[in-house]
Amino acid sequence: MAKKIFLSRIIPNPGIELLKQSEFDIDILYKEKPLSPKELRERVKDIHGLICLLDDTIDKELIDAAPDLEVISNMAVGYNNIDYHYAQSKGIAVCNTPGILTQSTAELAWALLFAIARRIPESDTFMRDGKFTGWMPMLMLGGDISGQTLGVIGTGRIGTAFALMSKGFNMRVLYSGKPNPVLDKELNAENVDQETLIRESDFISLHVPLRPENRHMIGKREFDMMKPTAYLINTARGPVVDEKELISALKSKKIAGAALDVYENEPDLTPGLDELENVVLTPHTGSATVPVRDKLAVMAVENCLKILRGQVCKNRVV
Ligand code: DGY
Repeated sequence: MAKKIFLSRIIPNPGIELLKQSEFDIDILYKEKPLSPKELRERVKDIHGLICLLDDTIDKELIDAAPDLEVISNMAVGYNNIDYHYAQSKGIAVCNTPGILTQSTAELAWALLFAIARRIPESDTFMRDGKFTGWMPMLMLGGDISGQTLGVIGTGRIGTAFALMSKGFNMRVLYSGKPNPVLDKELNAENVDQETLIRESDFISLHVPLRPENRHMIGKREFDMMKPTAYLINTARGPVVDEKELISALKSKKIAGAALDVYENEPDLTPGLDELENVVLTPHTGSATVPVRDKLAVMAVENCLKILRGQVCKNRVV
């Protein structure tokens, strides 16, 4: 009997086509929203390969419900939704989709930076509401970008790409964590401790994975240290920021603004967040370009097929 693969959601067609052409039995859930944990457990009972998304919770219970499981292939670079230590203890491979979304996520971080600093969504609403009655000296004043200090927390692939994109803006670039020779060479960037970065940056952009030690990495203490003119950009994972403290910092104008693509309790917003003017919100779309999503779908399927065929998969995280 052929091994069985379950795909937990509709993904772009190139991925689905590749899956259909394989020698395996395929079960595709043609839905846009995730199944509940109970529904998902029901569905995985007899599968060997699971292709899932970042909002599918792949915990111990789910893994125990799938005794034949050989591979969990996440269509995302982050895999904080998977108990990968437990999967590893059961001999189950876990794969992700690195590299492909690096530029698109870095680009979205820049789009958010511009949007919040130059008040683009607010200006757009203003125009559509017919409120533009002529040039005004005090209308939609925002923050400078060129020549300002950019703080990058997390300089893996995406953080590095994001920092490199600052080249045209003649910025002072600070980063924390491990030395990054590319940023040092290309941008004369300064590797500083996190506190210095938080105190001195005009823009702080987050690019760390969600690990226990990064949860609420930016909270009250950090907002208290930030400049009142500073902006926070988060395209990493929501729980890296304490959203309640963020709301209070934005309300009290402790910081100038924030632009977020990810949320602490995704897809729910912490009450009050969407009522603030000094915030820009996008729906976790860092990788949302047609070419990138097509490639992510293909890579997630390829990873699963390779493991089930006993081939080497370079995107195996455990
Ligand atoms: C990822 O792949 O982890 C991204 O968050 C998707 O946009």
